[in-house]
Amino acid sequence: MTQKNIRWHDHQIQRSDRSKQKSQKPCMIWFTGLSGAGKSTVANALDDLLFEHGNHTYLLDGDNVRHGLNRDLGFSDVDRVENIRRIGEVGRLFTDAGLIVLSAFISPFRSDRQMVRTLLPVGEFIEVFISTDLSVCEERDPKGLYKKARAGEIKHFTGIDSAYEAPQSPELLIDAGAQSVEQCAQEIFDYLKHREYI
Ligand code: ADX
Repeated sequence: MTQKNIRWHDHQIQRSDRSKQKSQKPCMIWFTGLSGAGKSTVANALDDLLFEHGNHTYLLDGDNVRHGLNRDLGFSDVDRVENIRRIGEVGRLFTDAGLIVLSAFISPFRSDRQMVRTLLPVGEFIEVFISTDLSVCEERDPKGLYKKARAGEIKHFTGIDSAYEAPQSPELLIDAGAQSVEQCAQEIFDYLKHREYI
């Protein structure tokens, strides 16, 4: 739907001003992977490192956002697309505000992640694939959801009866099944430092 009678207002304070004020280059660190892969855990650990380092961040997490902004959405394909679209728009606003945004959503569809990438200026979307195997996620089953999905009590569960499309060329591929949470977070922190986001 195109918006009639609404005009975009350019702000007087530019995103470059906000970025300079915060001594960081805003970006959206987009964690993707199966439920139980470790997205939220690694994102939280990275958030800690960045906070300690004096950076300005905000963490958006699937389970939390679905309690508020996206409480009207379920797990059908259509709802997942809308879930990611909204997160992308929120991320765009937050990066405009100069923040480093960390987002932890399964975001199972390649086209949706690509859509968010195109919402942001080039270089500001950093896709981090937490590649933990389905077998490991299912073995961990921290919320008992895989068990329920296998029993048919939850429908459209990612990896069981709903697809997960792994990234083909993510900026970072992290195997959270093979290294500690701290090592995973440090690897992403080093990436940001090396490329002068922080
Ligand atoms: S996404 O697919 O739309 O990106 P999102 O990351 O917001 O998913 O939410 C995933 C979380 O919701 C999971 O970690 C899990 O706790 C819970 N959940 C509940 N039902 C499902 C389901 N059918 N498929 C996947 N996750 C589910």
